[in-house]
Amino acid sequence: MRRPMVAGNWKMHGTRASVAELIEGLANLALPGGVVDVAVFPPSLHVSLVVDCLEGQSISVGAQNCAHQAGQGALTGEVSSTQLADAGCKFVLVGHSERRQIMGESNEVLNRKFEAVQAAGLTPILCIGETLEERKAGKTLEVVGQQLDSIIEELGIGAFVNAVVAYEPVWAIGTGLTASPEQAQEVHAAIRAQLMKENSEVAQGVRLLYGGSVKAANAVELFGMPDIDGGLIGGASLNADEFGAIIRAAGN
Ligand code: 13P
Repeated sequence: MRRPMVAGNWKMHGTRASVAELIEGLANLALPGGVVDVAVFPPSLHVSLVVDCLEGQSISVGAQNCAHQAGQGALTGEVSSTQLADAGCKFVLVGHSERRQIMGESNEVLNRKFEAVQAAGLTPILCIGETLEERKAGKTLEVVGQQLDSIIEELGIGAFVNAVVAYEPVWAIGTGLTASPEQAQEVHAAIRAQLMKENSEVAQGVRLLYGGSVKAANAVELFGMPDIDGGLIGGASLNADEFGAIIRAAGN
């Protein structure tokens, strides 16, 4: 039985003041005890602040990105997975579409980041998804399959024992357009089937999150699908009450 997970990607949002306010809101939420894993992903700058403020709460902290190598070194401007672990992070997002598309991160770079995250003892959340153009061209499963295959080929199926996968159709991110539960389930089932070909036990254990305009209003239906094990939430995670309602939806 996979335990649901709800993750809030804050992207490049927040000031020290607004982060403190959001955390206070999160700390006051009545969350379902022990049935949903909850994590928030502040900008790297605010990771330590959030870790400190959430001490004693059952909410983990993750980072949105890390350097392609673990440890320390001469990499100006980068933050390594080792440093994030030291700061109290448990997860790192790898391959969010905004990094693939805007920062030009290739599958090759993302393979190394995924490996660096695990090398530091953290759990990568691999984000994959197709653009609207690719969906319209009927290439959704091919594109998502290639993004997933890149990790399988490079690091082996064993790498998914300690990993989460997030399917985020690019056209649904920040647009208010959500994949229907059926559309999302179709892709999630294909992702699991692809992992299943390598190792069924690993495939059954991997949590597959859906991301893309998830709100309290659509979360119950999405999370009700058999291969959707929770969500990666952007905009709605910046509102504690809305995020709390999404977490409760995952717990039901
Ligand atoms: P939205 O929920 O704002 O569409 O963002 C989804 C996302 O990109 C989470 O990583």
